[in-house]
Amino acid sequence: MKALVLSGGKGTRLRPLTYTIAKQLVPVANKPILGYVIDHIRDAGIKELGVIISPETGNEVKRYIDGGRKWGMRVSFIPQAEPLGLAHAVNTARDFLGNDDFVMYLGDNLLSRGVKDALKKFTRDRAQALIFLKEVADPKQFGVAKLDDRGHILRLIEKPKRPPSNLALVGVYVFSKEIHKAIARIKPSFRGELEITDAIQELIDMGYRVTSETLDGWWLDTGKKDSILEANTVVLDEYVQREIKGSVDASSRLTGRVTVEKGAVIRNSIIRGPAIVGKETEIANSFIGPFTSIGDSVTILDSVIEHSVILNNAFLSGIERLEDSLVGKNTRVIRESARHKALRLMVGDDSTIEV
Ligand code: DAU
Repeated sequence: MKALVLSGGKGTRLRPLTYTIAKQLVPVANKPILGYVIDHIRDAGIKELGVIISPETGNEVKRYIDGGRKWGMRVSFIPQAEPLGLAHAVNTARDFLGNDDFVMYLGDNLLSRGVKDALKKFTRDRAQALIFLKEVADPKQFGVAKLDDRGHILRLIEKPKRPPSNLALVGVYVFSKEIHKAIARIKPSFRGELEITDAIQELIDMGYRVTSETLDGWWLDTGKKDSILEANTVVLDEYVQREIKGSVDASSRLTGRVTVEKGAVIRNSIIRGPAIVGKETEIANSFIGPFTSIGDSVTILDSVIEHSVILNNAFLSGIERLEDSLVGKNTRVIRESARHKALRLMVGDDSTIEV
């Protein structure tokens, strides 16, 4: 069994963050989404990983994965010149995949549980494909499945105008080599892409066995429906542990599940978990509330911050209360004095500011 992770495409929905970073590398609880994806693949015992990369962001994805050493995996990077669809990505990876079974994971999807048990089910069922489904409120933006009373798949449709159910296809699939035959038979969709959903429908039409599993845990699709803030909340709630590797002075108080990374310094501050403070970050005279992720080398002085994501190298000072906010890399947010009412801004493209 091999794994194919799709880390190409264009991250228009996550702008402005994705002007400077691949969408699969946007951090959630201080770790790139792609990191969670590769963890799941490693935990399923897979040793060979192919990663689809784009010309725009391929190099930074390569740099992050760093040959797969952290995970003990062999990694092949597979350039896809244009994002012509998920099935096109599988075609592009044809040499890497050979005739092996493989799990395909979209690099911007996060699942509460890994794929280990699903792979066992795939082998047990002797299926040619296994798909994952999850009930969603707005199925129109996904691939959608129609099942019969016994849970067998009747039909799969990509981004239907009138969805036949609210069961969306999650961005994780398991395939045998027959998928390549099905892909060879499909045509580009209305959005000009070779859709994996159409290829799976083709497998069904060809008489092959396609099974499904409905997820009971959470599923986050940061490329589509979930904001980084929502993902941060769910992931902090699930994963963060109490772990203090940095220094915390006697007049500070850390309650609940708080991670403080190496080299971080906390002075005269309160931090309530779940929260994470990155490496070499300094927090002084501040209150950090639950569901906050603070990146590496950040400085926070005389501020109150809660339910927010602060990326690396940001500098915040004198902020009376910041909540539900996302602050990008190398950003400075400074309030000189409470009496001084004028705002001075240097704001990048596609930003949102509510004052
Ligand atoms: O997230 C689940 C949904 O993912 C499914 O419900 C849909 O059936 C499936 O088609 C897919 O839809 P999206 O419209 O969300 O796919 P998107 O174009 O956002 O691409 C998903 C990931 O794959 C993203 O990390 C970028 C990468 N990608 C995408 C394309 C089109 C590639 O690497 N190459 C590509 O050609």
